[in-house]
Amino acid sequence: MADSWTSSAGGVDLHLDLPAGRGRRAALEGALRQAIRDGRLTPGQRLPSSRSLAAQLGLARGTVVEVYAQLAAEGYLRARPGAATEVASGPHSQVRLPAEATFPRIAADFRLGRPDLSMFPRAEWLRALRRALQGTPHSDLGPSDPRGSARARAVLADYLGRVRGVLTTAEHIVICSGFTQGLRLVCDALVAGGAESIALENPCLPDHRATAIASGLSVLPLRVDSDGARPEDFASSAAAAVLTPAHQAPLGATLQADRRAEFVRIAATRGAYLIEDDYDGEFRYDRHPVGALQGLAPDHVVYVGSASKSLAPGLRLGWIAAPAGLLDAVIEAKRRADRGTDVLAQLAFAELVESGGLDRHIRRMRRRYRDRRDALVATLSHSAPAIRIKGVAAGLHAVISLPEDLSETDLVTAARARDIALTGLAPFWHGTRPRATGIIVGYGTPFQHEYAAALDRLGQFMRQVRN
Ligand SMILES: Cc1ncc(COP(=O)(O)O)c(C=O)c1O
Repeated sequence: MADSWTSSAGGVDLHLDLPAGRGRRAALEGALRQAIRDGRLTPGQRLPSSRSLAAQLGLARGTVVEVYAQLAAEGYLRARPGAATEVASGPHSQVRLPAEATFPRIAADFRLGRPDLSMFPRAEWLRALRRALQGTPHSDLGPSDPRGSARARAVLADYLGRVRGVLTTAEHIVICSGFTQGLRLVCDALVAGGAESIALENPCLPDHRATAIASGLSVLPLRVDSDGARPEDFASSAAAAVLTPAHQAPLGATLQADRRAEFVRIAATRGAYLIEDDYDGEFRYDRHPVGALQGLAPDHVVYVGSASKSLAPGLRLGWIAAPAGLLDAVIEAKRRADRGTDVLAQLAFAELVESGGLDRHIRRMRRRYRDRRDALVATLSHSAPAIRIKGVAAGLHAVISLPEDLSETDLVTAARARDIALTGLAPFWHGTRPRATGIIVGYGTPFQHEYAAALDRLGQFMRQVRN
C-alpha cells in the first residue's frame, strides 16, 4: 500500500510511496531524497513541520525528525533553528539519475570495499583543488604525457617512498583510474609481451579475475592460508602473480616474510613479475603498516595503489610504479586506453599530499576504523560467541567463518531481509568447487553517525541466527 502525502505547509504537494508496516522510516528518507534529485522538490521549498508530516503519515514525530536530520547531514535539506526545514540548493537537485543507478540506502550497510564516504575531507579537497587550479599553467591542462602530470608523479613517488617503502621515481609512475584500470594496463602490457597466463590468489576479487581474462590471459589459482598466498603454486607458465601482501583480499592474512622472499626469488629467477595490489596498506592497527613488497625487488614488482580506500572510490584515482622492463608497454597501454587520467584530480591529490592533508585524514580514519573494528569484534563475540572472526589486523573488512550448519547464501539473504548488507565468500573463489564458507563484513562502509545503530542491528541478527 502506498501513502500519498499532500501537504499544505509551504504549498508542497507531493506523492510519496511508503509501504505499510516496517521500513517506513527508510522509505520516507528514500522518497524525499529521490524527490529532491528528480526536481519535484526544488531548492528553497519549505517542508512541513516534523509534527505535521508525522501526523499525516502516521509516523512517530521522532522518526520524521531523524529523517530530516539525516537528509540535512547529506546536504539535501537545510535546517535552521526557528525556521522551517527547506530543500538545500546544490548540484543534487539538477542530477537525474536513472532509477537503477540510485543505490538504495541500507540501514546496516556492511558491503565490502568502501570507506566511510561521509568522512571524505571535502573542505581540504576543495582547498587542494583551488590551489591546483590557481597554480597550474595553461599548458598543464594537456594534452600531456599519458603517465600523468609530472608534478603529481613526483609527489607520488616521494609519498609512496615515505609511507609505503616503495622504491621508485616520477619517471616510473603511471597515474591511472584506480587499481582496476592499473591491473588492466599491466595485463595488457604483459599480453603485448607474449604472456598467456597469470596467477591470482584464490580467493580474490571476482572483478580482478574478469579484468585479467578480458585482457586475454588465462587465470591460474594461488592457494591462500593464514600466511598469505603460497609461492609453491606460482606456476612456471604464469607471466605474473597478483598479490595482496598487506591484507589478503578478502581473507585478510598478511603475506609472511619468508613467502615474500620466496615470491621475489621465483619472479627474479624466471623473469616474471609480481603485481602488488596495495589497496588498503595504510590501515594497519596492531603495528606500523607493513611496507610494500615492491621495496624488496623494484625490478620485479609492479606496485599498484589506489585512493579508493584512503579517500573515495568515486575519485577513480590510482597509480602504478612500474619496473623498467614493463614501463614502456604500460605507458602505451594507458595511451591507448584513454590518453591519461583527469589532470586536475591528480594535481588536487598532489596538493593534498603536500599540505599534509592526506596524512592527517588517514591518521584520523585509522583511529576511527580501529574503533569500529574493536566494536565489531566485541559485538560479534557477545552475540555469536561460537563464530570466528579473521583478518582484523588491517583494512576495512573482516571475515566471519561460518560453522557447517550455517549456509552462507541463506545468511546473506536473511540479513538482507532485515536491511543488513553482507557479502558471501562464494563469488571470490575460482571455479565452482565448494570451498570454505564465510561472510565478509565491510565495517568501513556505514556512515560514522550510523555505525552504532548498524552494528546493533547486526548483533541482534547474529544472536537470532544462533538461537
Ligand atoms: C582487493 C582490492 N583491490 C583494489 C581495490 C581498489 O579498486 P579501485 O582502485 O579500482 O577502486 C579494492 C577496492 O575496493 C579492493 O578491494
